[in-house]
Amino acid sequence: MVEVVLVESPREAGQLVARSIIDLVAAKPDAVLGFATGTTPLVIYNELAAAVKRGECDLSRVRGFALDEYVGLSEAHPESYHSVIERDVIGPLGLDPNLVHVPNGALDSIQHAGQDFEDAIIAAGGIDLQILGIGTVGHLGFNEPGSSLSSLTRVKTLTHQTRQDNARFFGTIDEVPMHSITQGLGTILRSEHAVMLAFGESKAKAVQRAVEGGVSASLPASILQLHRHATVLVDAEAASRLENLTYYQRAWEQKMVWQRL
Ligand code: PGA
Repeated sequence: MVEVVLVESPREAGQLVARSIIDLVAAKPDAVLGFATGTTPLVIYNELAAAVKRGECDLSRVRGFALDEYVGLSEAHPESYHSVIERDVIGPLGLDPNLVHVPNGALDSIQHAGQDFEDAIIAAGGIDLQILGIGTVGHLGFNEPGSSLSSLTRVKTLTHQTRQDNARFFGTIDEVPMHSITQGLGTILRSEHAVMLAFGESKAKAVQRAVEGGVSASLPASILQLHRHATVLVDAEAASRLENLTYYQRAWEQKMVWQRL
């Protein structure tokens, strides 16, 4: 079962995941993290940055892989995920930029960029903890509805809805690239622990289908039901359509101390 954790606030979700990452890195200083972009995971990065600042952890040996990147957008563009990961993750967390990989969306090497990225993940020994958000369309990374359940990193065409959702970063929808290069659903399934966060009413329907609906390419996040260790942290609004919420809450409250997040 996907573990569902109802939190009182996005901040509490950030604290829980940050604690899990700090514990992981204490045991394995060169742990491999999978980084999502978007607004949702910022609560995790903020907590980690504060912990680093207080001297509570050292993330300088952590290795990282971003989930996705736009195709054909210059790395120097402020909204490229190279820029976003540098600004929101590498800098604040004190990571070594040489140890953090973002898929290469440059057109001249796009035909082998997916395979190159998969090879790099394998060479690193796989992703220990993959941070995820969910799109209103139910996507993970840029795996839009219809994505193969066993897909690996490759180019995907963005849906109109996703381009609309991301237009806030670009000004107008026309400036949002048409294509992305994204870790596949199969790539995400290979991670040791997948941690998805969702906040707000706009995510409620996708969360319910992901956790309680049938596993289907039509709702890519439903592959979390196939993951051997998946945790979904939701606030009350994002959890509002879940049918078994009372059970998830009881399971969380009754969790034994030795059990991980
Ligand atoms: P958001 O994006 O965190 O900005 O809502 C999530 C996603 O599209 O995966």
